[in-house]
Amino acid sequence: MSKLRVAVIGCGSIAKHRHIPEYASNPAVQLVAFCDVVLERAQRYAKEYGAAAYGSYEELLAKESVEAVSVCLPNYLHAPVSIAAANAGAHVLCEKPMATSVAEAQSMIQAAKDNNVSLMIGHNQRLMPPHVKAKEILQQGYLGKVVSFRTAFGHPGPEGWSIDGKDSWFFDKDRAFIGAMGDLGVHKTDLIRYLLNEEIVEVGAFVDTLVKENTNVDDNAVCIARTASGTVGTLAASWSYQKEDNSTVLYCENGVMRINDDPVNQVIAHLSNGTVEKYEVGAAATNEKQTNSGVIDAFVSGLQAHTQPEIPGEEGLKSLNVVLAMIEASEKKRMVEVRL
Ligand SMILES: NC(=O)c1ccc[n+]([C@@H]2O[C@H](COP(=O)([O-])OP(=O)(O)OC[C@H]3O[C@@H](n4cnc5c(N)ncnc54)[C@H](O)[C@@H]3O)[C@@H](O)[C@H]2O)c1
Repeated sequence: MSKLRVAVIGCGSIAKHRHIPEYASNPAVQLVAFCDVVLERAQRYAKEYGAAAYGSYEELLAKESVEAVSVCLPNYLHAPVSIAAANAGAHVLCEKPMATSVAEAQSMIQAAKDNNVSLMIGHNQRLMPPHVKAKEILQQGYLGKVVSFRTAFGHPGPEGWSIDGKDSWFFDKDRAFIGAMGDLGVHKTDLIRYLLNEEIVEVGAFVDTLVKENTNVDDNAVCIARTASGTVGTLAASWSYQKEDNSTVLYCENGVMRINDDPVNQVIAHLSNGTVEKYEVGAAATNEKQTNSGVIDAFVSGLQAHTQPEIPGEEGLKSLNVVLAMIEASEKKRMVEVRL
């Protein structure tokens, strides 16, 4: 069987740590082209993988017959580049946050439909081992309904992650559109929607810039959320947690589940009958310690099987929409209903 011809657009940190190595280790894939506006970044990988290098995605899409692309670019480019790739007939795996507005996200979904290609969003938290285990336990039902939750995602900030360090686009509203809420908060709106298997319908929030001096985007947010069935919880996103925290606690009718909060047992369920279940399932990836995200393999196997992508554009849109409502709630200093 011929290999899937893939291009990676944007050769910064997420491409380096996840997309490129995970495509490279997938035997069904051939990396045929790389693009970065800083051409040397694309050339480095082109040399390593015997592929072509481009400084412009338009040129790449015009000259290469790629079957799939990864969009690993600053947030403001997700929609235009994903739409251009779909219009060129390529399946798209786009990083999160999916877009900078509902309208953009809807245009991406429409472009994929019009061109009969897949659109998947890189919400990799769903595939991290602690979250996979938590979902499995919830589906078994013995914890009962989730009554309330708290979830957080924080680290010291993207200057320690982005290829451009403290000069990164992450700090610039024109290119990032939002800060910690787009980097980390959207991971957790997506995770909560996924774990609870229902929609967040109402939110309130403080979305602030508390510590970073080089930015015009948010660096700290504490939000509250209510789901359709009445579960309530808090969601925090921060670029000033000096030690990374990506934990979630679910307070259920029949016990408490602590997820990714213990270095050894990544899932611990304290049942109300006194039983404590401990699961050593493997850690979620952190900025310092990368693990295989599974997103690329899921994207590729979906294409091979001609099935719906595991995390389709519609899901990315809903998770983004909750974040947008949280930002609106903070700006308006009131609760906001989440509608689509
Ligand atoms: N799923 C995750 O866990 C996760 C983690 C980190 C980042 N991300 C997302 O991945 C995306 C990229 O983030 P990153 O951390 O790799 O950023 P980065 O700053 O490390 O890299 C971005 C790259 O894009 C390039 N670029 C900018 N404009 C370009 C253009 N017009 N054409 C071609 N290349 C261009 C830059 O030169 C840079 O090399 C963001 O949307 C981010 O939110 C996702």
